[in-house]
Amino acid sequence: MKKLLLELKDASLAAIAQADSVDALENLRVRYLGKKGELTAILKQMGALSERERPVIGQLANELRERLTGAIEARRAALSVKLLEARLRAEKIDVTIPGKPVDIGKKHPLSTVLDEVEEIFADMGFTIAEGPEIEYADYNFTKLNHGEGHPARDRQDTFYFTDDDKILLRTQTSPVQVRVMETQAPPIRVISPGRVYRKDEVDATHSPMFHQIEGLVIDKGITMGDLKGTLNTLLRKLYGERAVTRFRPHHFPFTEPSCEVDVQCFECGGRGCRVCKGEGWIEILGAGMVHPRVLEGCGIDSTAYSGFAFGVGLERLTMRRFDISDLRLIFENDVRFLNQF
Ligand code: DAH
Repeated sequence: MKKLLLELKDASLAAIAQADSVDALENLRVRYLGKKGELTAILKQMGALSERERPVIGQLANELRERLTGAIEARRAALSVKLLEARLRAEKIDVTIPGKPVDIGKKHPLSTVLDEVEEIFADMGFTIAEGPEIEYADYNFTKLNHGEGHPARDRQDTFYFTDDDKILLRTQTSPVQVRVMETQAPPIRVISPGRVYRKDEVDATHSPMFHQIEGLVIDKGITMGDLKGTLNTLLRKLYGERAVTRFRPHHFPFTEPSCEVDVQCFECGGRGCRVCKGEGWIEILGAGMVHPRVLEGCGIDSTAYSGFAFGVGLERLTMRRFDISDLRLIFENDVRFLNQF
């Protein structure tokens, strides 16, 4: 039996010393020291020994158990250091390698100008109103005093969703005026930027989708003077204090009187050139005093309140602001173009 124990000792210590993983080591522990292990098996036969041999063999067996336990622990510790070293080697990163540059986008020129316009109006006490792009013809036209046969309603110009021409893609941001007046009591001071849609072929100055910024002010005693002051403030903040403006009579169904506002051509100072097509002026927006019929239709007493409204094309503002000559550049989203702003 002593011989068995000594053989086991040599074999097991050699195996432990060679174990190359924590799993293999655990298998060895079970194989030698487990309940059904080889050392246990030997100990089970101790009953057959004589009184004299038993304590000697017993002591030998205990020593072997301790020796093996110690050897396994030592090997486990050594292995885990090795494991850690291997992992550290495998996961090594070189923090001195320059990082991959992340492409940070830029504000689109339309957003830059819209942000500027919003800030200018916020400074004058305006808030921002929103309205749907899918709109009722009622709001887009009827409540804005467009008669039944008004040419703007034409199917050649307007995207309708339904055969009865009741639902459409809004052709202007002006329906937001109606939505605001129907739900808010005066005084009202809002602007409303957003997309609008018209059946236009794409070219250097047209796109079937573009942006407008609508403005609406309703209060007691609002006059054309307020309209002029407000729009001059906008255009001078955008284009510089020396920007020269011109208010020209015009017609819109929902304002009376109505006007268009031009800015003197920056290129030629009003003499007429290629940029202003020889006009000396560049048309920027439409505006007017809100028609009493529109006010009344929205439940506002037109004998007590008056107001003005305006609609600006955001693309046009942006093209002027950044000297962009072709509208298509704004929508093509070529980063070589966009990176210039
Ligand atoms: N909605 C007009 C257009 O698309 C622009 C406009 C003109 C808006 C006069 C207004 C306004 O609010 O008062 O051409």
